[in-house]
Amino acid sequence: MEAFSYQDYVSDAAFIDRYNSYQTKYSKQMRESDRIIIELVREIQSKHDFNSGPMRLLDIGCSTGNLLLHLKSCLPQLTLTGADLAESSLQACRANQELEGVEFKIMDLLNLPAGADYNIVSVNAVLYMMDDAQFANGLRSIAGSLKPGGTLIAFDFFHPYSQDLHINEISTSHPDGLRLRFRPMDMVRPILSEAGFKNAVFRPFTLPFDLPVSGEAADLITYTVPTLEGKKLPFRGTLFQPWCHLVAVREG
Ligand SMILES: C[S@@+](CC[C@H](N)C(=O)[O-])C[C@H]1O[C@@H](n2cnc3c(N)ncnc32)[C@H](O)[C@@H]1O
Repeated sequence: MEAFSYQDYVSDAAFIDRYNSYQTKYSKQMRESDRIIIELVREIQSKHDFNSGPMRLLDIGCSTGNLLLHLKSCLPQLTLTGADLAESSLQACRANQELEGVEFKIMDLLNLPAGADYNIVSVNAVLYMMDDAQFANGLRSIAGSLKPGGTLIAFDFFHPYSQDLHINEISTSHPDGLRLRFRPMDMVRPILSEAGFKNAVFRPFTLPFDLPVSGEAADLITYTVPTLEGKKLPFRGTLFQPWCHLVAVREG
């Protein structure tokens, strides 16, 4: 069988069920990476002229809507849309009263509505599952759905080294393998320009607190390893995860 890829999220109902219950934890307890996204959105919002219209944000690959839930409570002036390929995740979002007022739609990151004029598109932990063609198409598709001058905020695996890593992680939850891609920032920059983005800023992510090793070895729960400089690097099993926030502005 082919390694698990982003398409399998839609077809593997049992996997989605397990993933959605894992997400439940983060509806109460905001992830540090989401907190940073919210601060980035807050900064953009502070420059938005609400007399010229609402500020519209699309979270593509929203799963059960945790980021949207926190955005809604921290920044209530935003007009929020959540989209995913997995209908069962969207159903869970629509049934969640805390997400009332947020619009949910089936959308494919690779084929977003052109000219939708979003001020911000966030894509949180989705692009690393995509191959090169999908990655470039996905960025073009996001650019097309943003207003000129609108902002892409991504949280993904990007790093400063000249290593383009293709990883096939075989584990208890993915016995057929999960394809992960750790992309060098220097490889991503020209792809962003070609897609119509400028002013790309990469902000490598480390945790501000220690996460102890927990669970059984097979559970692969994220823990941190301290560096000599006092940074706390996120590991899962033997793997260092080069999580990184990326902000880029659509030309125009
Ligand atoms: C690892 S989860 C991340 C969920 C959420 N953004 C978060 O940070 O917790 C990836 C999500 O992206 C969705 N997804 C994968 N490929 C997609 C695509 N082409 N278009 C829209 N959603 C996609 C999956 O269904 C899944 O909900």
